[in-house]
Formats: sequence, C-alpha cells, structure tokens
Amino acid sequence: MSLQDLLEVVPSGSEDQALLRAIDFARLPRHVAVIMDGNGRWAKLRHKPRVEGHRAGIASVRDVVETSARLGLQVLTLYAFSVENWKRPQSEVTTLMGLLKRYLRSELDTLLRNNIRFRVIGRMEELPADVQDELRRGMERTADRSGLLFNIALNYGGRTEITDAVRRLAADVAAGRREAGAIDEDTLSSCLYTAGLPDPDLLIRTSGEMRVSNFLLWQIAYAEIWVTDVLWPDFRRKHLLQAVADYQKRERRYGGIAK
Ligand code: FPP
Repeated sequence: MSLQDLLEVVPSGSEDQALLRAIDFARLPRHVAVIMDGNGRWAKLRHKPRVEGHRAGIASVRDVVETSARLGLQVLTLYAFSVENWKRPQSEVTTLMGLLKRYLRSELDTLLRNNIRFRVIGRMEELPADVQDELRRGMERTADRSGLLFNIALNYGGRTEITDAVRRLAADVAAGRREAGAIDEDTLSSCLYTAGLPDPDLLIRTSGEMRVSNFLLWQIAYAEIWVTDVLWPDFRRKHLLQAVADYQKRERRYGGIAK
C-alpha cells in the first residue's frame, strides 16, 4: 500500500489529503495501538442507550482498519474488551459480544480483499463459545494474508498477560527446561501474546482520558502517546492521519539524549 492507495479514496482538496501529504511514508510507526474510549459518552450526549455508542463505534473500527492497511502499517491493535469489562451490566456485555460476531461476519470479505490478517490477543478461551468460533474462523480464513496484522484485544489485561508469561517461565525453570539466570527482556517478550511483533510506536487514546488502562503495559514502554478529545464513534481516518503526522514530529530518545 502507499500514498497512491490512500489518495484514491481521499477527496482532492480535503483536509485528509493535506494531512496525507504531510506524512513521511518512510517513517511510519510500525505498530499503532488504540484505546477506543468514549462510546458511552457519545451515546449519552444523544440521549441514547450506551450500547448505541458501541454500535456506532463499529464504523470507526472499519475506517481505522482500512486506513491502516492502506497506509502500510505492519500492526494495528485495538482494545475492544478488557478483563475488567465483565463488571459492566450483563446486557452491555452481551451486546458487545454480539457486535463483535456480527462485525467479523460482515467484514471478513473486506479483510481478505485488503490482505489483512486478523488475530485475537487476550484470554480468548474465556469468551462465549459462539464468539470463539467466529473469532477462530476469522483467524483461520485470514491466516495467509501478508498485509496489515489486525489484532483485537479481547478479554485482555496487561497484568494478566505478564502474569501468564511469568507462570510459563516459572514452570520451565521448575521443570529444568530453563535457567532462571538466563531469562532476559527478550525471553519475557517472547512469552507475551504479541511475541514476534514490534512494540507499539504509537498509542492512541480517544475521549481525552489520560490513562493506559492496563493495555499492553510491557509493550508500550517507549510508545509515543497521543490523546484526543474526540469520542471513539467520531474517530475517523483524518484523526489517525493527524496522530501519525504528530508522531513523526516527536523526537524519540529511548532514554538517550538528542542527536
Ligand atoms: C469504551 O467506551 C469502549 C469499549 C469498552 C468497547 C469498544 C468496542 C467497540 C468499538 C465495538 C466492538 C469492537 C470491534 C473491534 C468490532 P466506554 O463504553 O468505556 O465509553 P465511556 O467511557 O464514555 O463510558
């Protein structure tokens, strides 16, 4: 994918086009992670039930996934459901699971056409069986795609992920398969759900909250954080392009000093 791919779908003379021209395609973030927040507030502002915000958020998911693929990002990770989200009213959880299933069913062809590989990160085995079936089908059908890797974080928690990794390593040490002293950062990284993927370069959060909410805690150690007041159902291509353009203005020092 390239600038040309995006220019095809962006109206000439639009704000999106100007933003696109400001982006340096040689320095794109490899991995963009998004905390999609503000669905409930979006619905409340319109005097609608909270679930209407989630429903409207699907259009934003579609737009961001397509734009990421066209931009040529390697990985996009969207935080759709956390291990803490089970505390929400049962009816909201059920609606979210239903939306997810419907999204996968209706989008699968588009994902395939856009050469997108779909994967789940999180404790998938604790999700309802019918949702798991749909997710597995999506993963299997798109497994051979070589473009964007689209991760959905579902029943995901950063601390849970690190705990699971430590348990695996401890079991290996106890069984004599591994030396405790040989465990380093790379070893731990290789036991996370994101093993083998680049860490997020850019973390986007919508709805203005300044929190990381237990998302990819290990992997965002050096991510650039971009927060917008825009509520998730209003988030579109131009906001993603804005985030990428702003990211490219940041100086990443990784604890060193300016060049
Ligand atoms: C946060 O808004 C959003 C969520 C917990 C769910 C995000 C889910 C979707 C956008 C739909 C399904 C996703 C996919 C990938 C198909 P909130 O409810 O916490 O909003 P609030 O803070 O305003 O209450």
